[in-house]
Amino acid sequence: MTINMPAHNGKNGHGTAQDVPLPPTGDSGMFDPISVESMANQFYTAVPNALSVAAPTGTQPAIDNIGTVPQPERNSSGMSGVALVGNSAPASALSEEALTAMAKQLRSQMVPANLEANLFQAFAQIKPAAPSQETAAALPTTSASSNALNVEALKEAAQQLYAQIPQISPSGIPGNSIATPPKPTSILPLSEPDLQRAFADAGAQASHSPVRETPQPSFYFLSPPAVENLGLESGAVFDVSAIRKDFPILHQKINGKPLIWLDNAATTQKPQSVIDALSLFYQRDNSNIHRGAHTLAARATDAYEGAREKVQRFIGAGSASEIIFARGTTEAINLVAQTWGRKYIQPGDEIVLSTLEHHANIVPWQMLAQETGAILKVIPVSDSGEIMLEEYAGLLGPRTRIVGITQVSNALGTIVPVREMTQIAHRHGAVVLVDGAQAVSHMPVNVQEIGCDFYTFSGHKLFAPTGIGVLYGKRQILEDMPPWQGGGSMIRHVTFERTIYSDPPAKFEAGTPNIADAVGLGAAIDYITRLGMSNIERYEHKLTEYAIERLAQIPGLRLIGTAPHKVSVVSFILDDIPVEQVGQRLAREGIAVRAGHHCAQPTMQRYNLTGTVRPSLAFYNTCHEIDTLVEVLRTIRFR
Ligand code: ALA
Repeated sequence: MTINMPAHNGKNGHGTAQDVPLPPTGDSGMFDPISVESMANQFYTAVPNALSVAAPTGTQPAIDNIGTVPQPERNSSGMSGVALVGNSAPASALSEEALTAMAKQLRSQMVPANLEANLFQAFAQIKPAAPSQETAAALPTTSASSNALNVEALKEAAQQLYAQIPQISPSGIPGNSIATPPKPTSILPLSEPDLQRAFADAGAQASHSPVRETPQPSFYFLSPPAVENLGLESGAVFDVSAIRKDFPILHQKINGKPLIWLDNAATTQKPQSVIDALSLFYQRDNSNIHRGAHTLAARATDAYEGAREKVQRFIGAGSASEIIFARGTTEAINLVAQTWGRKYIQPGDEIVLSTLEHHANIVPWQMLAQETGAILKVIPVSDSGEIMLEEYAGLLGPRTRIVGITQVSNALGTIVPVREMTQIAHRHGAVVLVDGAQAVSHMPVNVQEIGCDFYTFSGHKLFAPTGIGVLYGKRQILEDMPPWQGGGSMIRHVTFERTIYSDPPAKFEAGTPNIADAVGLGAAIDYITRLGMSNIERYEHKLTEYAIERLAQIPGLRLIGTAPHKVSVVSFILDDIPVEQVGQRLAREGIAVRAGHHCAQPTMQRYNLTGTVRPSLAFYNTCHEIDTLVEVLRTIRFR
């Protein structure tokens, strides 16, 4: 089996400060509130010992006796710190560079001019250059106070910081008298590489064109191989046991057996950072967006639009205005069918789909064809589950208006050559929609490289909450499309005579959107970006190979979908045992798989089946879990 692997970046996983990817800021260089909170907490942990700020009056919190900073349990992304090998530094050992960068970011984020002035005044006086990380780490915690910091200015800045974001507290700092939010430690504090990433110059970020792949930090990549982990080509190890600590749901027993979650193609589990992002949004920022000129409306709007920018960068779109939030892939495809489709599809026009499509990329087109008199044409697949490209090219003609193709088959795992297929479709003047629901969590995706006109995916398959998904559309196409649902937010001006619509994306987001879950999606993108999509892809490639090899040895087991290019789905049938029974037997052992048609009945029909058993993998799965699956399957087989 081979997988389209991106060029190896040649790094051993121990990134340098310069290697660290830039933070997910928007074109404005502004951070979302969680990043700001992290910054604020870092600001406090970086402040020298014994800095005390007098209790502010009124409702503002007091800060007393900021003392020794305890070591973090988790860093700002909610990632367990267990694998911080070689890169972590005590928060008190920040370099001048990090502090200066912090000041710059605080300047860009903390609007009040006094705060900016005070921070600069304070940090400007740190000299000489801070000791090296190692030296600084070895210094007593009072060492920072030997720098000529302007403590008064810092106190003033601290008070302003609290006034700006009242819920922020210097959590974990003994003796503080501030009422702390329930779970503040999840964002506390950052290691120096985290800081350098979080506080990288916003200006640099603004000029940073969307790029899919940036070198990654080494938090999860240990040099010495550990038993259950798989080596990467770089020689580093993808430390799954560390990663699994970020997913609380994985640590439970089902029927007395450890949960083995192999139903990732149906939905993925959520890291603590995503859970925290949701919780923090509702604790601190909840408001409707765009309307209402008050602080929470501004925060919620920033968080929501910040998530849109994260999506833009994640899939390499040219502009955040090309990103429309929807409930999920299904809604996104329906939106295109009902807007673009109704405008452009005429009787006798052709809609080309593949045999590998999920029902979500079949039924909306079928409904449109029934409404308009258009014709559906279906691309065949080979016995191994690959698109038959020559037949595909032969299906296209002057009446082809749109090609709808999945990037990865949810039932078989086949990777579809969507770039090549898009080029072929474009030669015939057809528009291309790519269903990326099963792709985005397994491989780097760049919509501009694919060249597709529409791209869709669901947050919940990307470690984000349910109820949030994405439609990417090329700007010009979105502008030419009529709106779908009418209501608030999607209008510029309304009279009873006529309505002038907003520009995309607002034109397609009528009503109050799913703000919190969009923020959760942004947090999920942050999380997996830090792991590195290429690292995830490499790890999953090895895990999938391992699973295929082990499962293929089980007598009576027939793999369905054996394409050489596939990801993370290992569908099979086991002799004549009904797939539902196999699924139930596995469930009794704590192993969660999907058994059935997987909302892809035409794919099943291609193989004369009504369903398969489908273990589907994610980066938190292990070889040990595969072994357990195989052991249980063997007992079913021989009963
Ligand atoms: N599309 C999801 C799956 O394949 C639900 O299971």
